[in-house]
Amino acid sequence: MAKREKPKAELPDKIPQHIAIIMDGNGRWAQARGLPRLAGHRAGTENLRRIIEACVEFGVKYLTIYAFSTENWGRPEDEVSGLMGIFDEVFERELAELHKQGARLQHIGRLDEVRPSLQEKVRNGMETTKNNDRLVLNVAFNYGGRDEIVQAIRAIMSEGTKPEDVDEEVVSQHLYTAGIPDPDLVIRTSGEQRISNFLIWQAAYAEWVFPQTFWPDFGRDELLAAIQEFGRRERRYGLVLEN
Ligand code: FPP
Repeated sequence: MAKREKPKAELPDKIPQHIAIIMDGNGRWAQARGLPRLAGHRAGTENLRRIIEACVEFGVKYLTIYAFSTENWGRPEDEVSGLMGIFDEVFERELAELHKQGARLQHIGRLDEVRPSLQEKVRNGMETTKNNDRLVLNVAFNYGGRDEIVQAIRAIMSEGTKPEDVDEEVVSQHLYTAGIPDPDLVIRTSGEQRISNFLIWQAAYAEWVFPQTFWPDFGRDELLAAIQEFGRRERRYGLVLEN
């Protein structure tokens, strides 16, 4: 493949600091090829590597991906166990590459509910990469946005915080994403247009784009197009902007 030019000229002035992605369409990608759904998840995993590379190239600082939701346990058993197998492999196999890219792995969600061997791999990945600062890769794994808010409320109450002292900042600091800026841009691939319990607090003022492409085919150029679309949007945060 011909070496690509650096895209500086194609990048808008405004780059999203934090991109979050709902990696949808793996199953349909596989189905369209007469393959089992898991083949789609494998292709989606391969694609993730390209997107991480592209984020580093474009100067995006935080990438949050929705790998497995608290609701996904309800999928057929063979799909769930297949996905766990993929996570097992990926958290081990891709770690060196992630480290080489200067990316730091973080996890959001309920890690204590996944099998211990997998917890161990995720924790090891976070420990190994903790000093990297080119990109934070935030993996939402066994994650649910409502569950996250419930956990935050419990933590705030158990600390004995007075109701009048609870504000948005206090809630934000008790979410799994404490310390991470809110996403500027959320991408859901495959044409579906739903939030699906993803970052429901944090994405309150995010720009959303819904490309038609299935996740395994959503490559560098598609990401660039989403960033360009972001660059054309005017964020108002509920205000009226003066000309
Ligand atoms: C949604 O597609 C995709 C998932 C539920 C799994 C996404 C996981 C990966 C790509 C693996 C990432 C790996 C790591 C370690 C982070 P879908 O199955 O809902 O597709 P469909 O809507 O076409 O059925």
